[in-house]
Amino acid sequence: MKKLTTLLLVVSLIATLFVGVGCSKIDDNLVGVAMPTKSLQRWNQDGAFLESKLIEAGYEVDLQYADNDVATQVSQLENMVTKGCKVLVVASIDGTALKGVLQQAADAGIQVIAYDRLIKDSANVDYYTTFDNFKVGVIQGEFIEKELDLANGAGPFNMEAFGGSPDDNNAFVFNAGAMSILQPYIDAEQLVVNSGQLDMDVIAIQGWDPAGAQDRMDNLLSANYTDMDVDVVLSPNDSLAQGIVASLKSAGYGTADRPFPVLTGQDCDSTNVKMMIAGEQSMSVFKDTRTLAQVTVDMVKAIMSDEEPTVNDTTSYDNGVKVVPSFLCEPVFADVNNYEEILVDSGYYDAADLQ
Ligand code: BGC
Repeated sequence: MKKLTTLLLVVSLIATLFVGVGCSKIDDNLVGVAMPTKSLQRWNQDGAFLESKLIEAGYEVDLQYADNDVATQVSQLENMVTKGCKVLVVASIDGTALKGVLQQAADAGIQVIAYDRLIKDSANVDYYTTFDNFKVGVIQGEFIEKELDLANGAGPFNMEAFGGSPDDNNAFVFNAGAMSILQPYIDAEQLVVNSGQLDMDVIAIQGWDPAGAQDRMDNLLSANYTDMDVDVVLSPNDSLAQGIVASLKSAGYGTADRPFPVLTGQDCDSTNVKMMIAGEQSMSVFKDTRTLAQVTVDMVKAIMSDEEPTVNDTTSYDNGVKVVPSFLCEPVFADVNNYEEILVDSGYYDAADLQ
């Protein structure tokens, strides 16, 4: 009996070894890039920059977009694991939904870079490349502070706030950054939130959907602003700002009697740059996706050559299981006065894209 057990153990060990060899069919030249959606301009640019820079560096690329559908993204990642991609670059849709597939990746010896959005609750996230997301919120908050002269005691002003998608860790970091500047003015009643809605669980818009922002703005205006105007709206990004402006326009804002409120954004989508030029949106935050792509490609190159990738932050991004070593790029304030210099002169857009 003892002999039989030993024999079985040896057989199963050999079998495991063979299976192990079978799984580790890693293609040293193949990189998987998983993007959330084509519906927002920035992810198209991120994907295109990553693909072209990776190809330039001599790699093959499997680039996939998941139409903001979590199950689609999971199955795209499963395919990348099966194909033997050596590195996965993942801009997640739901940061908490990838634990299972990332375990498969880790078992196959694949390294994972979380791109722009932190992947949560998994030990199998090796690196994170993003922008300084807290600073994005601070730039928005400081703009409102300056624009309304809050530091000199001006006010009260009527403000409403929006939050990004609740499954995206960035949404909470942007909000924390903006509130680090604005909360003292709310406490001092220089900023008055007539809806009383400030918590992320009531202000967050699922999927960063412009239509969701438009609906919520419609409701805020009809419930709170029939006999007064809203003076400032904190929007964490450009897609929500688009929905907010659509709602404001249908409520009659944008005239001499009822000017548009101060409105923030982020991404410098071409649609929103045009909105800034038209005076419908006050500012945006430029996050140069070319820089983020380059930093990420440099990381891929290091991993491919068994070198240690460069990071510049090892404390900020705790994903619930580990602090993920990160490289944070710098976000830049943008408005109607500097967009030509930072967006057109730098070659990010052609002047014609903004007409
Ligand atoms: C990104 C933003 C983007 C938003 C919606 C966030 O994770 O950091 O740049 O506007 O997702 O796609």
